[in-house]
Amino acid sequence: EGTKLWGGRFSQKTDTFLDKLNASIVYDKRMWYEDIQGSQAYARALQRAGFLTEVEEQEIQKGLELVGQELELDKFKLHQSDEDIHTAIERRLKELIGLPATKLHTGRSRNDQVATDMKLWLKSRLNTLKKYILDLTQILVERAKTEVGILIPGYTHLQRAQPVQWSHWLLSYAWYLKEDCDRLLQVQERMNIMPLGSGALAGIPFSINRSLLAKELGFTRFTYNSMNAVGNRDFIAEFLFWASLTAVHLSRLAEDLILYSSREFGFVSLSESHCTGSSLMPQKKNPDSLELIRGKTGRIYGNNCGFMMVLKGLPSTYNKDLQEDKQAMFDTYDSLESILQVAMGTVKTLMVNEESCTAALTPNMLATDLAYYLVRKGVAFREAHHLAGEVVILSEKQRVDMPSLSLEQLKSVR
Ligand code: ARG
Repeated sequence: EGTKLWGGRFSQKTDTFLDKLNASIVYDKRMWYEDIQGSQAYARALQRAGFLTEVEEQEIQKGLELVGQELELDKFKLHQSDEDIHTAIERRLKELIGLPATKLHTGRSRNDQVATDMKLWLKSRLNTLKKYILDLTQILVERAKTEVGILIPGYTHLQRAQPVQWSHWLLSYAWYLKEDCDRLLQVQERMNIMPLGSGALAGIPFSINRSLLAKELGFTRFTYNSMNAVGNRDFIAEFLFWASLTAVHLSRLAEDLILYSSREFGFVSLSESHCTGSSLMPQKKNPDSLELIRGKTGRIYGNNCGFMMVLKGLPSTYNKDLQEDKQAMFDTYDSLESILQVAMGTVKTLMVNEESCTAALTPNMLATDLAYYLVRKGVAFREAHHLAGEVVILSEKQRVDMPSLSLEQLKSVR
């Protein structure tokens, strides 16, 4: 087992099933760029601290460039012993440049390395998600502006409540998204604290300039407690929760539109570009885009919930359980990105059917306004509410809408 990074104290071969279970390379390969970025900055820090000569440092930089190119062009050949992306890159670097490669890990552990890589990865991706959220907000706001004046029934308990503007509904989701952006800023703030330089758990005994290292990697601060730094995945948990809540907003928007696009409501028609058909029933046009948004939300929340369960019983600092963080992070990112993209298209291309919206506005939805009319005439609100309720009963009894009741009939109410 001399090929393993940690093989020194082992004389027996690792069980093949364990090797398979332990390997995270299939998914953490995705952050190869961040791993190389982190190693390049770390090599500079080691050189500044006197642990690498200038020549060694340059060789490491060049070697890492080459490894990066191989990964980028998909020419990187994986070995059996490549447990994770950190091991794989170091192994390849040694093949390419020899001795200097074996100095790169001085004072570093995969524990502070992996936490740093993940923060770097998320930091850049969060801006993409933010952009999509802002784009979707923009689409909602634009529609609200151009379609102002169209009325729809507003619902509480999914029962017709009061007439509202279609724009009012659109903007209610724009406000959710605005708060999602505000919350994202806070998540990003804590994503900006660099764990590198924490060693395995006990810190680093060499005089590495962490503040410069952080700056070079684009972090604004660095962690102060190494035990906390290597075992802390709150930045993942926060991301997963933030993503879950954002997805919940998209899911509720989707649910509204699924209802509104049904024949029973008919308020909107979805574009064919965002629907699919049935293999059996020729007439069907199904709102799959919206259903997938709703469905993926369950999956995203599942990642959040599952990862909290991983964290809950862990002793302090690094434990291998933490390796579960990667799939939760990548899967949540991918799912949220794809539903944001589809939400944008679905909302942008749908058509609002003004006639069906207006037809759904039943006169009794103005009962509240009748009460307010009486309030303006000096009747106390409770009394006005009661009287308007009586008018509703009367209209139901007479089987006519409220406005069709005669003055005489209205006067009979007290
Ligand atoms: N692949 C590991 C992970 O993702 C990297 C850290 C491994 N550290 C260790 N001490 N085995 O969590």
